[in-house]
Amino acid sequence: TQVVSPETLERVREIISTLPSDNCWKHVQPFCLYQGFWCYPFLLEGVILAQEFFKAEPSDIFLCTPPKHGTTWIKALTIAIVTRTRFDRSMSPLLSNLPHDILHHLEEDFGKKPDVRVPGLPLIPTHIPYDSLPKSVKDSDCKIVYVRREIKDAFTSEYNFSISLSSKDRGECHDYDEPSESMPLEEAFELFCEGKSLYGPCWDHILGYWKASLERPGRVLFLKYEDLKKDTAFYVKKLAEFMGYPFSMEEEQEGVVQKIVDLCSFENLSSLEVNKTGTFHRQGLLRFPNKSFFRKGEVGDWKNHLTPEMAERLDKIMKDKLIGSGLSF
Ligand code: A3P
Repeated sequence: TQVVSPETLERVREIISTLPSDNCWKHVQPFCLYQGFWCYPFLLEGVILAQEFFKAEPSDIFLCTPPKHGTTWIKALTIAIVTRTRFDRSMSPLLSNLPHDILHHLEEDFGKKPDVRVPGLPLIPTHIPYDSLPKSVKDSDCKIVYVRREIKDAFTSEYNFSISLSSKDRGECHDYDEPSESMPLEEAFELFCEGKSLYGPCWDHILGYWKASLERPGRVLFLKYEDLKKDTAFYVKKLAEFMGYPFSMEEEQEGVVQKIVDLCSFENLSSLEVNKTGTFHRQGLLRFPNKSFFRKGEVGDWKNHLTPEMAERLDKIMKDKLIGSGLSF
């Protein structure tokens, strides 16, 4: 049920219909260019509604990521941190739900659900670039956790995910009877290098949050997927502290941190029945297996997909874009 008025929705759809659009990925919907980033119209409706009407509260914690940079993992880790005193490990909601189904997503759900906040959980995920976040999010004292991933692995993950979106595996989809054929890697790579990826250009997304983390260090925690992989326990503690849920000495001694690391590990989550066999649905537009969110979860898988020339080109783009920012590519 839509909670905004039909007139408002009509007005927002009117705005979207005037945007430059490109059916480059031949996916669920063509991409539209809005405030410098590419996005599907059905998500832009929520972006614009949230920009107009969403009111952030100081207790909110936003989980911000570009798609395929570790969204599922950061959701799982933060849910496990926040709920650790409420559920023992055998009762965690993560054992029976895809992390995406536990939280509401800002631009997917704003205006459609009465509240994007889930009772008892201060976590609100979004892929919206920093500059386009609702003003109240940037102005309030709420916290933002951001995760970025090495760009070649991010592209590799996105490309493989897009194949799962296109494949017959996706099942029945209301708006698209025939799943589109998957695009050759070279074509997808070209689009990605032009910045045409969901919520892309990816480098602008990363830079926006990086700058915000420098300007508001206590409010924006900027993390890298590769660092999380290298020392998950360290970052679980850092995350917990940043979010205002620090571990007590007793908890540390009882091994609670490691239990969270293990609960949220790729190996554990990907082996759960719900994540092996469940289906992810969104608004009659997206429908694909939960297992598409758990492919390999490795650092450096790009080597199995990209040629050295492709790797060099993407590295050069990132180097040029990030130069002077203090952020390594
Ligand atoms: P790969 O495609 O490289 O395997 P997102 O969650 O933003 O959609 O990103 C998906 C990527 O995160 C996929 O990467 C997926 O395998 C990986 N991933 C999912 N759960 C993970 C976990 N618990 N730990 C580490 N990586 C995980």
